[in-house]
Amino acid sequence: MTQIVENIESKINVSTIRSKFPVLDQKVNGKKLIYFDNAATTQKPEVVINALSDYYRQYNANIHRGLHTLAERATAAYEDTRKTVQQFINASEAEEVIFTSGTTESINLVANAYGRKFLHPGDEVIISGLEHHSNIVPWQLICQEKSALLKVIPIDAKGDIDLEAFKKIITDKTKIVAVNHISNSLGTINPVREIVQIAHDSGAIVLLDGAQATAHVDIDVQELDCDFYAFSAHKLYGPTGVGVLYGKRKLLESMNPFQSGGEMIKEVTFEKTTFNDIPYKFEAGTPNIADVIAFNEALKFVIGLGNKEDVLSYEQTLLNEATERLKEIPGLTIIGEADQKIAVISFIIEGLHHFDIGMMLDAKGIAVRTGHHCTQPLMNRFGIDGTVRVSFSIYNTLEEVSIFADSLKQIVEKWR
Ligand code: ALA
Repeated sequence: MTQIVENIESKINVSTIRSKFPVLDQKVNGKKLIYFDNAATTQKPEVVINALSDYYRQYNANIHRGLHTLAERATAAYEDTRKTVQQFINASEAEEVIFTSGTTESINLVANAYGRKFLHPGDEVIISGLEHHSNIVPWQLICQEKSALLKVIPIDAKGDIDLEAFKKIITDKTKIVAVNHISNSLGTINPVREIVQIAHDSGAIVLLDGAQATAHVDIDVQELDCDFYAFSAHKLYGPTGVGVLYGKRKLLESMNPFQSGGEMIKEVTFEKTTFNDIPYKFEAGTPNIADVIAFNEALKFVIGLGNKEDVLSYEQTLLNEATERLKEIPGLTIIGEADQKIAVISFIIEGLHHFDIGMMLDAKGIAVRTGHHCTQPLMNRFGIDGTVRVSFSIYNTLEEVSIFADSLKQIVEKWR
């Protein structure tokens, strides 16, 4: 990847990284905040917060249509983020990067703009049993509308996709395969390169939901050879309300628009409209200018962390320590123990409800997520209605893991 940040840090220095996140330096319920809900959303470094404020204070203007200085400055900043995204995911051109409101909208865009045009009665769409509702429901809806069949790749007891089953259910009627790169509930890293290969051999296109992947592993869409890749800025240290859809040029050009209005047109008469070129064909209306601009700073922050393998390896240290400590707690079961997983642990404790555990941890200043994590079919697969989920990030520490494990042990000893 082209070096776009000059000041690359050579290794992970957690205290320097933490100092960049103002929100981490506070007490919650009288205790030092421990933020272990990073799979839901990551915290934001100061550069992102400042970029938002700078835009509104210094050059707030609508983009692409204005000729005045502020409009040109805002347009340049907005388009600069597109170039950074292109480099971040190694897309072959910036026009293949579309800004959306988040992963959910990116997936809906493909289901509607690709699915509605290219799915026919009797065609098949394949998803996996690990999917977030946002990669299930859009496909259910479009399959119903087009009389297509939705098939699901089963998940094994460790939380891995059953690849052999995938090979059996894919047919020449399968037009779309949509799976996540990394599971939000269990942390499983899926063999996406292999999935893409199998799908392509069968003539299907592949959408990867990368919402949980971009902060933790290297993304190279050309290497993956996926047809679409969807992700959100807010799980990548950026603002909420911004997402990306990467798509191969040929596919994007073949699709109808998703939403219509200003910006996505070339010419409008009352009789007929011709559409703009990509990416603008898919960016109708005034976009989320401020947040896209601030997202650039988040991307530069991540790139500035250096090698993603160092990031992953640091987070794996937290994962291994937490896994070991949690296994010492009587009655605790970890849900999802894939060999390849990011630093996410979902667990249940016999005799204690996950909501209660979450509230008792919150009383100790520890933020975790509880519930079904928008993956009800996955919870059904394990015969549960929810878990407690801890998800770590680059700014978390072994000391925090230790405080968390001690706190959980105390809760279990007192209440179970
Ligand atoms: N999809 C987000 C999560 O897993 C909200 O928590």
